[in-house]
Amino acid sequence: MRGITAVAGGTGMLGGTVCQQLRAGGARVRALVRPTSDSRRVERLKRLGVETHPGDLKQPASLDALCAGAQAVITTASCMLSRQPGDSIQSVDLEGQLALVEAARRAGVEHFVFVSFPPLQGNFPLQDAKRAVEQEVLRGGFPRTTLLRPTFFSDVWLSAAMGFDAVKARARVLGTGEGRVNWITLEDVARFAAGALDTPRAWGAVLELGAEEAVGQLQVVRLFEERSGRAWEREYVPESALREQYEATTDPLQRSFAALMLNLALGCELDPRPAMDAIPVRPRPVADFVERVLAGQPLAQEEARG
Ligand SMILES: NC(=O)c1ccc[n+]([C@@H]2O[C@H](COP(=O)([O-])OP(=O)(O)OC[C@H]3O[C@@H](n4cnc5c(N)ncnc54)[C@H](OP(=O)(O)O)[C@@H]3O)[C@@H](O)[C@H]2O)c1
Repeated sequence: MRGITAVAGGTGMLGGTVCQQLRAGGARVRALVRPTSDSRRVERLKRLGVETHPGDLKQPASLDALCAGAQAVITTASCMLSRQPGDSIQSVDLEGQLALVEAARRAGVEHFVFVSFPPLQGNFPLQDAKRAVEQEVLRGGFPRTTLLRPTFFSDVWLSAAMGFDAVKARARVLGTGEGRVNWITLEDVARFAAGALDTPRAWGAVLELGAEEAVGQLQVVRLFEERSGRAWEREYVPESALREQYEATTDPLQRSFAALMLNLALGCELDPRPAMDAIPVRPRPVADFVERVLAGQPLAQEEARG
């Protein structure tokens, strides 16, 4: 039987789903939690039988204890959506993740799994941090590594919070809405992350994750319209405005958000087949996501809230 898997980011949407799937497979899981983590999410982890471990990516000593005796480490942590005082791309996504890699190496962890994203256009701090951590993971010292590069999450970017509102039947469309994306759900990304631990073809691999078909935002709006029988209102944010925002801002977080929005507008197509060949997961098409939203089924991000 596999040993302990330590998860950084387990109180988040993706990390929580990874913990859930690992526990469903009978794995022993230890998750990093902070005093400030959402108590409902911590309680949910405990209900799942996850051992919670206090710490913070900004406190290296807590990472040594997190990794002690662990066979694998999976990290999904990021400050982009979940921030406390002192959290920044520099302190969390770069230095915190590097400290975790180092702690895992010192502890003799066999397998390090890092969630990144595919190469995107532009220079921005989040992308710089992801690439630097990827390099550090690959530098050696782990018998197994897996770098996962999922594309845009449908649960996040096609949600009401981002202006894609199925209840009000209206969408904020970035750019022309024609840029194609291999949308993937949090749940499918979590399947790849959990699956990587037991799948030798995923060891030593850098895997881009997405659904087989790449679809533009406007096509997603049309899917919502067809399946709900309601016409949707569209509000367009021109590519020029997104580019201006990206070029004008110097704040690392704002610049990174602006870069992600611009990339979404331009489209982000990838070849998901190598990942599907390596790990037996078949990401569901975006039409499946649309149907689940319209049926009011809880999505991974709602379930992670407990
Ligand atoms: N959204 C997308 O479209 C997309 C696409 C590709 C890749 N990704 C990657 O997928 C991951 C997103 O995961 P998610 O959806 O689960 O994000 P999330 O819900 O925002 O969760 C972030 C997690 O990071 C933890 N965290 C933040 N700062 C920390 C710190 N200083 N010390 C310890 N933990 C800290 C949070 O802990 P607390 O609960 O304590 O705050 C939380 O558990 C990120 O790595 C992101 O780059 C996202």
